[in-house]
Amino acid sequence: MPKPTRLVIIGGCGHVGLPLGIVFANCGINVVLLDVSAERIATVNSGRTPFMENAAAEHLKAVISKTLVATYDSSCLKTADAAIAVVGTPVDEHLNPTVTELYRSIDATIDILPQGALLVLRSTVYPGVTKLVYDRVQSRGRKIHVAFCPERIAEGKAMEEIRSLPQIISAFEPEALRRVRELFSIINDELIELTPLEAELAKLFTNSWRYLNFAISNQFYLLAESYGLDFYRIYEAVTRRYPRMKSFARAGFAAGPCLLKDTLQLAAFSGNNFFMGHAAMLVNEGLPNFVVSQLRSSGLRDKTVAILGMAFKGDSDDKRESLSYKLRKLLVLESKEVLCTDPYVQDENCVSLEDAVQLADIIILGAPHTVYRALRIPRAKQVVDIWGFWPERQFAEAKGHHA
Ligand SMILES: NC(=O)c1ccc[n+]([C@@H]2O[C@H](COP(=O)([O-])OP(=O)(O)OC[C@H]3O[C@@H](n4cnc5c(N)ncnc54)[C@H](O)[C@@H]3O)[C@@H](O)[C@H]2O)c1
Repeated sequence: MPKPTRLVIIGGCGHVGLPLGIVFANCGINVVLLDVSAERIATVNSGRTPFMENAAAEHLKAVISKTLVATYDSSCLKTADAAIAVVGTPVDEHLNPTVTELYRSIDATIDILPQGALLVLRSTVYPGVTKLVYDRVQSRGRKIHVAFCPERIAEGKAMEEIRSLPQIISAFEPEALRRVRELFSIINDELIELTPLEAELAKLFTNSWRYLNFAISNQFYLLAESYGLDFYRIYEAVTRRYPRMKSFARAGFAAGPCLLKDTLQLAAFSGNNFFMGHAAMLVNEGLPNFVVSQLRSSGLRDKTVAILGMAFKGDSDDKRESLSYKLRKLLVLESKEVLCTDPYVQDENCVSLEDAVQLADIIILGAPHTVYRALRIPRAKQVVDIWGFWPERQFAEAKGHHA
């Protein structure tokens, strides 16, 4: 099968675009990462990754300036035979899906791409957007093949999962489907074909499912803890050698750039009748409020509180939509002082881990970074560990007995 010789990834220096570009470039495809961030472009072209992503840096070094290059010059689209669009698709300040940015980049793209090129949407989109883009192409009189292939990697696992997870592909026309099959079979042997609307829903079901799963765990956590019980004693009991509870997640902040906004996209698509999605939002987004309300009885007003981990999840430097920041906002209103620390997140307001631990009366684990695993917490400190991250003994001791 002939390989496309020139692939452009629009939004190519982002969390989805960069790993995907590296994987294609590793397969010998000439990849151009088109982006609007001059800083990210410079970083990538110097052979460094702009964010943490396991194994991406070493693979990037092997291909940069050979089969991979980053640019802000959209004229690279003129000679592309395929383009994959992965710009961000956030919900707006009223939590509605928005396509403004996506449309802006798509319009610019379809006017430049040569006739007969393939345009693949890979951003997570509101159901029906692929059809709207397809119609947009037709109405501009362009002969460009439109396809939708959702990205399903988890940040941090992209390099492995792009190749190991089956790839969902979809298109309206047989020629577009043939072209996209050809493209994705370069990087993955297992392709699943759906219609575009099915594929759009498949992606939203995936993220909503995960968000709801976290919400159930968080709801149980709230329930147990509000009765003064240790959630993780119950958790360990029900999950030990009991296969039907295998998918029972641990409690913790369920946040980040995707899960909530994709659940809300699905809610909007269901005419705001996705009750379980909205309920999940109330539980997950309410967790920082619960933590603060539990601490009120310990005289929060006179206490210094440290939040350890500002990223939205462990071993990540991504602070987008992190609930540690929501927690910080709540604590600023109710405590004497809030100290934030994170080994990876770039935030000038963060202090060192040593200072945070030493100066705080109360320590809250915001993100379970592996480097915190061996942390010794002085015996006088009160510790809140919603993740059940620290070993039982260390946690129990830290809770008020001995460290
Ligand atoms: N982050 C994830 O783990 C993940 C997983 C699956 C799907 N997704 C979806 O993938 C999409 C991208 O997410 P992300 O996390 O990679 O976002 P990101 O913000 O990390 O990357 C987007 C990139 O697009 C660039 N960009 C913005 N506007 C542009 C334009 N007009 N032209 C060219 N480049 C432009 C930005 O500079 C940025 O580098 C979203 O729809 C998201 O929901 C994300």
